[in-house]
Order: sequence, then structure tokens, then C-alpha cells
Amino acid sequence: MARYAAITGTGSYLPETVLTNFDLEKMVDTSDEWIRQRTGIAERRIAEDDTATSDLSVQAARLAIKRAQIDPLEIEMILVATVTPDTFFPSTACYVQKGIGAKNAAAMDISAACAGFLYGLDLANGLIVSGQYDTILVVGGEVFNNIVDWNDRNTCVLFGDGAGAAIVQATEEPKGILASYIGSDGDYADIDLLGIPAGGSRMPVTSEAIDQKLDKIQMNGREVFKLGVRLMPEAAQRALSKANVSVEEIDLLIPHQANLRIIEAVGDRLGVPREKVYINVDKYGNTSAATVIIALDEAIQDGRAKPGDLILLVTFGAGLTWGSTLLRL
Ligand code: COA
Repeated sequence: MARYAAITGTGSYLPETVLTNFDLEKMVDTSDEWIRQRTGIAERRIAEDDTATSDLSVQAARLAIKRAQIDPLEIEMILVATVTPDTFFPSTACYVQKGIGAKNAAAMDISAACAGFLYGLDLANGLIVSGQYDTILVVGGEVFNNIVDWNDRNTCVLFGDGAGAAIVQATEEPKGILASYIGSDGDYADIDLLGIPAGGSRMPVTSEAIDQKLDKIQMNGREVFKLGVRLMPEAAQRALSKANVSVEEIDLLIPHQANLRIIEAVGDRLGVPREKVYINVDKYGNTSAATVIIALDEAIQDGRAKPGDLILLVTFGAGLTWGSTLLRL
């Protein structure tokens, strides 16, 4: 019997504190109009000071576990995609394991920036289809507010905090992950393009580094924009052709929620009508590894994604990294 990896439960969690564009107007030289026009973002959520990525992830994971109707002890593997781990080590996945009481699981983090959740799904798919595991928790979670320079208007308006989680389980029904594709290009592993220079083994966090804000996100927005618009449609096509599915058959496209103009350009390039493109970047901004799973969870909860629907997830991020997943819900 063929084995498939199906998503049997999803959950998401957004911190309660809302930071609007009008709040940002008081912090940097920007305007609600500029941010909406250039990014489509109206507001984003900000985690409380004492809240870490695992705290948001545990909330999202509990919901996913409840909706999948499983016991946490059934989970055999926990994969947490994040670039804002609670600590360098132990992994955020280990804190999540403790938080949900999944004592029988192996746990590890995935570092693939905004593409991280689809990297996690790709791994989960391989581990399940090969027969190694039956039940895997995949999380995308981020607390960006500590790595954003709140004086840099080029970046601080873009990001937000949040987490999403999915329970992925073995099934013999031909549904779930029909095709998955991930890729990366280390030629673009350029800190000035998108990244954080200080804090790793290359450059410690010294007081000089802090003075130069090298412990915060650096980004060349214009270049990242162009790369996203090119890479996401290419990645999406790879999953479609692997599954021999045409774009017309897609019920819902969920692109990485970085910028409304990128999302619309990706939909247009693929030929997906606007009403089939899921958008929540207006409410949450870019939550990096969490965007696609928060969006998928919302789409399921609000009825935009129904059992049997064909859903195409696509993302890209620093590294560069990218990926696409074609799902039959
Ligand atoms: N408010 C007001 N003005 C701002 C601003 C802000 N928040 N941020 C930048 N500007 C200014 C710039 O300083 C620039 O001014 P200048 O022409 O005097 O130098 C001007 O607006 C235009 O900048 P530009 O970079 O051309 O704008 P843009 O249309 O490319 O939009 C981004 C900027 C960052 C919104 C856009 O490039 C983007 O979204 N890029 C992708 C970022 C991303 O998704 N990163 C994560 C990927 S996973």
C-alpha cells in the first residue's frame, strides 16, 4: 500500500498586542499610506517582552494536536522552523516538546528563514512516506521584534511575531502532500541582502557590533523583492509539474506573506485569479517561517480551505531558500 503524509490538524497563535502603522508613524519617519501602498501591511502583532518563540509555538501546537485528535505522546518527531530560536541551544523544538508533553518525540530546529515551514513539511513528508515515522509535528514560529531595528524604517514596518503548527500523519488515502519541492542558492548568502551579521561564530555580539546595529536585520529590500517575484512562481511550478497538476486545478494559492505586491505578482505570473490567492499580510506583516502555516490554518478555520481542496503553498527567504508544497486537504 502506498503511504501518504496528510495534514490532520493545524493551529496558529498570534500575540494579542497589535502594532499599527499609525503607531509606527510615532516611532520612525513613515506613514500609514506609504506602508499600505508599498507593502499592503496595516498592522502586525508583537510578542510581550518575556515571550519567546517556543511560547507562541506551544500555543499553536496545542491547537493542532487538539484538532488532529491525537495524544501528544503519539508525536514521534518535532520540527520547528525558526530564525528566532529561544536560545542557540537547546533547540526551540526541545522547549516545544516540554510545553506540549510530547515525551516520545525527537526534536530539532530547522533554519531556512522564511522558507523554513515548507522545509519542515518536505522533511516530514519524506520521513512519513519512507515508513520511518507515522506522526510528526511541524511548526513555524518567530519572535522578530527582538531582531528588528525599531529605528530603521526600511525594515521595522515589515515584520511581525506569530506561530503556526501542523500535525502530519501517515495515511493510505491518496491525499495530503501530493508534491513537495525545496531549494536554495548559497551564492545569495549575503548578509547585506537579508540577514543578521552579528551573534554567530563569524562575528560575536560586541558593544561595537551593537552600536552599529549589526545584531539586527539587514536587508536590501529592492533586491529581495525582485528575487521573490522570480523565485516563488518558479518554485510553485516545480511542485505542480511533479504532481502533474495544472494551475487551473488549484483551489487556493497561499504564498509567503511578505508584501502584498509580491503576493499579487506571484499570483499573476502563475495565472491564479486574485480570489484564489490567500492574503493576511495586512493583519500580521511578515512572520517569516510562520506565514504560510498561519495562513493555511486561518483558511481552514474560516472555510476558505475545505476537505478535498487542492492547495498550493509557496515561499522564499534568506539563504536564499525557497519551496513549494501541493496539498490535497
Ligand atoms: N516609510 C517611508 N519611506 C520609506 C520607508 C518607510 N517605512 N522605507 C523605505 N522608505 C523610502 C526609502 O528610503 C526610499 O527613499 P529614497 O528614494 O529617498 O532613498 C523610498 O522609500 C523608496 O524605497 P524603495 O526601496 O524603492 O521602495 P520599494 O518600493 O522597493 O519598497 C520595500 C520597499 C522594503 C517595502 C520592498 O522593497 C519590499 O517589500 N521588499 C521585499 C522585502 C521582503 O519581503 N523581505 C523579506 C523577504 S522573506
